[in-house]
Amino acid sequence: MGARAMSRKAVIESVGMAVAERVMPNSEFEAIVETSDEWIRTRTGISERRVSSDEETCSYLAAKAASQALERASCDPNDVQMVVVATVTGDYIFPSTASLVQDMIGATNAGAFDVGAACAGFIYSAQVAASMIESGTIDNALVIGVDVLTKFVDWSDRSTCILFGDGGGAVFMRAQENTNRGLIATVMNSDGSGAKHIKIDVGGSLHASGSESSKGKSCHIFMEGREVYRFAVKAMGESCCSVLEKAGVSADEVDLFVPHQANLRIIEAASQRIGLPPEKVFVNVQKYGNMSAGSIPVALYEAEQSGKLKKGGLVLTVGFGAGLVWGANLIRW
Ligand SMILES: CC(C)(COP(=O)(O)OP(=O)(O)OC[C@H]1O[C@@H](n2cnc3c(N)ncnc32)[C@H](O)[C@@H]1OP(=O)(O)O)[C@@H](O)C(=O)NCCC(=O)NCCS
Repeated sequence: MGARAMSRKAVIESVGMAVAERVMPNSEFEAIVETSDEWIRTRTGISERRVSSDEETCSYLAAKAASQALERASCDPNDVQMVVVATVTGDYIFPSTASLVQDMIGATNAGAFDVGAACAGFIYSAQVAASMIESGTIDNALVIGVDVLTKFVDWSDRSTCILFGDGGGAVFMRAQENTNRGLIATVMNSDGSGAKHIKIDVGGSLHASGSESSKGKSCHIFMEGREVYRFAVKAMGESCCSVLEKAGVSADEVDLFVPHQANLRIIEAASQRIGLPPEKVFVNVQKYGNMSAGSIPVALYEAEQSGKLKKGGLVLTVGFGAGLVWGANLIRW
């Protein structure tokens, strides 16, 4: 996985986003579990999150973000060649959410598949789509990161229920020749020995829901917060440093750092390790909590809207999550 040398690049032309309508402030948790707005804000940086309704499914939010990205790129849905959805909270075990989205947005000529890499899903899926574009297999792709984790939260577990929110974002990537824009370098890692630290036991084929083996097991998110915290700071620091090294770029040259938005303290600790000053770090975790694969593309959308992310700027994105899995993409915007 070296820096890219090819002349054909996968350039991000546009971004879209969609989050659940309902805003749930920290204060609402005070009536549900023993916690306080102050505890949640100081330990996580989160003030509020979005909680999806029954109608706001994973595919619904993904299609909304994707349609917006296509509109902003002035691309006809019929011209899309691939729909890639990064999610671990798809509408079904199968079919893929990508196929549902492909139909919903009218991308009649596109292939479609899901990528499962939890909160690093957008990093992995952007790289997969970019490789297909660079190799000439396809000319364009919609890459969507989306999750609706509140549907899997145990609302009586105060250590997890406060952390998550629902939404996602989409980028439209297109092949371009003779440009310095596009994905520049990528690193991707995994350590499955840490699978036990963050998982949902029931619903997969090991403990299928309703099966004998699922009895006494939970269908909600389980997480060892402290273990994941330690891993996250280390993984973010390592993958950012190694992606910069691969590209032969120093941290000073990065215009904007757009990390996975799980916890403000994790973002601050990792930024310090990498040597990035606060003014170069994009943060919106206070508004949305952890949207898993949705976090990075939503942050990219808002960074662009706010004027912090400009065409030609160097943006460093990094994700980490259940797997354990982590990775980083360096992108010339
Ligand atoms: C979950 C997290 C916020 C907890 O913060 P922390 O500072 O590590 O807190 P601890 O787990 O050490 O718990 C400290 C105490 O606060 C309590 N606590 C946990 N959640 C609480 C809440 N919502 N309100 C009040 N107290 C809470 C704990 O029960 C514990 O009490 P105890 O000491 O009596 O056992 C933090 O570990 C974290 O962010 N981890 C990473 C999570 C993450 O990013 N996951 C997604 C990865 S993609």
